[in-house]
Amino acid sequence: MRIILIGFMGSGKSSIAKLLGKQLGWKVLDTDELIEEKYNCKISELFESKGESSFREIEYDILNGIKLIDQCIISTGGGIIEFEKNIELIKSNAKVVYLKTNPEKVFEFTKNDDHRPLLDVENPMETIRTKIKMREPLYESLADIQIDACDQSLEVSTAIIIDELKPI
Ligand code: S3P
Repeated sequence: MRIILIGFMGSGKSSIAKLLGKQLGWKVLDTDELIEEKYNCKISELFESKGESSFREIEYDILNGIKLIDQCIISTGGGIIEFEKNIELIKSNAKVVYLKTNPEKVFEFTKNDDHRPLLDVENPMETIRTKIKMREPLYESLADIQIDACDQSLEVSTAIIIDELKPI
């Protein structure tokens, strides 16, 4: 069994994955980190040099490459659900946890960082709203568990996930 965390940028996937990994004693994998390691460059550089659609293919290859690893927590990039080929991979042998957030929190959380190329635009708030609206039904349709991640601490979200996943 694997636990796959999905949700928008800034919803806390990477941090919650680490907390879950610590508590369950499971390996933690992060698709963005695996991509950066494999290509030895930042996600923003990959977006710039290859474009978003090639990035989605790369994301698929990474997810496909780890599909047989059991007892792990996988933190995914927020757009992974947009690529049809990823859907089956996400659902395979996994409990899918959707960390729901809202545009204001995402904006607050991401406004000072420079590693989210999709938000490096003139009006990031508008992009955040549009993309959340577009992606939300996809996240919801994939989720076995949905957590309201914006109104509670990372620790509380983690405890709720562990509770809802019982018995693993
Ligand atoms: C993306 C989210 C990012 C990263 C890339 C694209 C997206 O990951 O994969 O910048 O399309 O939402 P995080 O969700 O970890 O920020």
